Amino acid sequence: MQWFDSHAHIQDSAFASDLGTVLERALAAGVTRIILPASDHIDSQRALSLAVRHRTQKTGAGRAIRLWTSIGCHPHEASKYGSDGTERLRRMITPASRPFIVAIGETGLDYHYDHSPRHVQREVFRQQLDLAYALNLPLIIHEREATADCLEILRQQAATGRLHASPGVFHCFSGSPETAVIVRKMGFFIGIDGPVTYKNARKTLDVVHQCPPDRLLLETDSPYLTPVPKRGQRNEPANLPLIGQKVAEIRGVPQAEIARLTFDNACRAFRLTDVD
Ligand code: NI
Repeated sequence: MQWFDSHAHIQDSAFASDLGTVLERALAAGVTRIILPASDHIDSQRALSLAVRHRTQKTGAGRAIRLWTSIGCHPHEASKYGSDGTERLRRMITPASRPFIVAIGETGLDYHYDHSPRHVQREVFRQQLDLAYALNLPLIIHEREATADCLEILRQQAATGRLHASPGVFHCFSGSPETAVIVRKMGFFIGIDGPVTYKNARKTLDVVHQCPPDRLLLETDSPYLTPVPKRGQRNEPANLPLIGQKVAEIRGVPQAEIARLTFDNACRAFRLTDVD
């Protein structure tokens, strides 16, 4: 069984001292593909360097795991983006780095924490949507308590022809089943994370239950959102099968089927045609 963790911040300082062991455990759990989502320019650079370094490393822990990265600016960090933010992201893409960059993000809106002013979040989101369109890259969307504005901005992009038919993933989807239908119609995948294993996950259970099998992705969001029964500990990609197990239970299918279909979905969502 092979699993694809399409969202794990393993470039985070939480893994600075033991990333090799973390990757060994991931591999032992069958997690062979990981996408590193970025939260700002420095983090994008850090994630990218890690993916490149891992690829060229001759020996070492978890070598059989393939890593890719996104580049972008999380809504929390939107006020740091600056007038040259888009240009700085664009400059990270070189012939050498391009094969490792599979998405723009995390980008979106977060009105729960409001770490950046909302109008700035919207502007930085729009700029990254345009960048993703121009570069023909999928998006990793972070949306929390900002559904109406997020959908409105995406509709505007679509109406002006600046949203691809398969535009990416709604990461850690926390919306209603109705919202899930809307974003799926726009072509997005639905990212499912550790909270699906929590007691108050009712809404997410419905979302998972109703989602067509070809649109589900599994993500740990390491080091955050640790699934039950490891809640309280640092999260890591090796915990992905716990999320897969819960999704398999909800859908009443074998775990192996969830592993296979979410693996294939991640390859499609991030257009990884050369995965061996
Ligand atoms: Ni994340």
